[in-house]
Amino acid sequence: MNINLSQNKNLKLFKLISEVAQNNDQTVYIVGGYVRDLLLKRNSPTDIDFVTESDGMELARNAAAHIDPKIKVSVFKNYGTAMFHYKGLDLEFVGARKESYAEHSRNPSVSKGSLEDDQKRRDFTINALAISLNQENFGELIDPFEGVLDLKNKIIRTPLQPSQTYSDDPLRMMRAIRFAATLHFKIEENSLQAIKNEAARISIISQERIMVEFNKIMLSEKPSKGLKLLEETGLMQYIMPELTALKGIEEVEGQTHKDNFWHTLEVVDNISKHTENLWLRWAALLHDVGKAPTKKFVEGSGWTFHGHEFLGSKMVKSIFYRLKMPLGNNMKYVQKLVKLSSRPIALIDEDTSDAALRRLLFDSGEDLEDLFTLCKADITTKNSAKQAKYKRNFEEVALKIKEVEEKDHVRNFQPPISGEEIMEMFGLEPSREIGILKEKVKEAILEGEIANDKEEAREFVINEGKELGLILV
Ligand code: CTP
Repeated sequence: MNINLSQNKNLKLFKLISEVAQNNDQTVYIVGGYVRDLLLKRNSPTDIDFVTESDGMELARNAAAHIDPKIKVSVFKNYGTAMFHYKGLDLEFVGARKESYAEHSRNPSVSKGSLEDDQKRRDFTINALAISLNQENFGELIDPFEGVLDLKNKIIRTPLQPSQTYSDDPLRMMRAIRFAATLHFKIEENSLQAIKNEAARISIISQERIMVEFNKIMLSEKPSKGLKLLEETGLMQYIMPELTALKGIEEVEGQTHKDNFWHTLEVVDNISKHTENLWLRWAALLHDVGKAPTKKFVEGSGWTFHGHEFLGSKMVKSIFYRLKMPLGNNMKYVQKLVKLSSRPIALIDEDTSDAALRRLLFDSGEDLEDLFTLCKADITTKNSAKQAKYKRNFEEVALKIKEVEEKDHVRNFQPPISGEEIMEMFGLEPSREIGILKEKVKEAILEGEIANDKEEAREFVINEGKELGLILV
């Protein structure tokens, strides 16, 4: 089969590389994801991998020198690869390899090989396709493992025995699931079985690499597809046991609770229809994570998960820490949404006070809309009348909050009177009393005792200061 590269926007580059290889008696092929995505007619990737049956580093240097002598080539001697950037593309060159891996090591022992040796040590048949850039067969597709057929049939299959491919590099178990989830492919039966058998070996892979794949699954159109596969293969148990702990339904005195694992997956799918924000999707993933450790059957009231949001938001931090994800603003955002996830539902009552609405506004600040997106995604009842009713309830709460905000402006609350001003009023140095007074002002505004206004706040502070024995200067 020949691939028509005449319309390819990188044709000039491919011709140049072909010429350089020819002049140096080297072979060269495009391999991997670029070929796959080209055949799938997906957006043209900016990473292009080239394989030569001789020295990849030499080919990279020669190609760069030919294209533009100013190009800087980065060489990774240990891996026998070299790469350079050119017009927004990352071009990577490698010598074809035969690899064998030691059982407990991630460091393969590598020796030179043919193109086919190199193709067979790759992860999946769809990633083992090569296009020749050699002059005698420029554009010929080299597909020894029927990758094109697998692309057509939407199948993830390994070129070698699956157990070999996965045990060579256990990250591939995550990649198989990631490709299945993002491309809507099916993992071939023997492969799936091999992943189940090898799942424990994921522990030799760094958390950072695991999370790159996990987050690609989270960003797919319907993340539950990948998350279900992670569960089914046993990988989820190694990555996030806190989530698998949500699985199962218990019954006491004829009363059951919902299976919070499957519910969570539905919530993640629901929210993914409304947002591409990875962290909002993470908030959906972890919104019920505190339910396993807080679950209790209470005589008379049934199943309870008291305080699960608070514990859940604490667990967010330990999960992020273990998974080596950054503990900065994104983590805090997920924590905040998990912690607030049950608050809007508690405000549905007719006679909810403005104070309660103001408090939610204050606590959620700029993330209020995201919180409501999460709450609506949390509605997983199959009863469409109930679903519509619950959604309407949230819309009503959102409307009430909007009204309060228009009146009180506490959304991005800035105290109407500063600590410095209070110090000046009473001639104080920084002290505990200042903190107490500031907190009292905030509470009074949220409770609606005073307006969010400088004059009222001043007057309030004078009175409260008196109570604390402070004298106005
Ligand atoms: N590869 C592999 N095993 C891995 C990672 C990568 O065999 N664990 C091979 C595959 O042939 C893959 C190529 O290296 O196509 C390039 O890998 P990478 O750039 O990580 O992935 P892509 O397949 O290009 O896909 P994506 O860009 O979507 O990650």
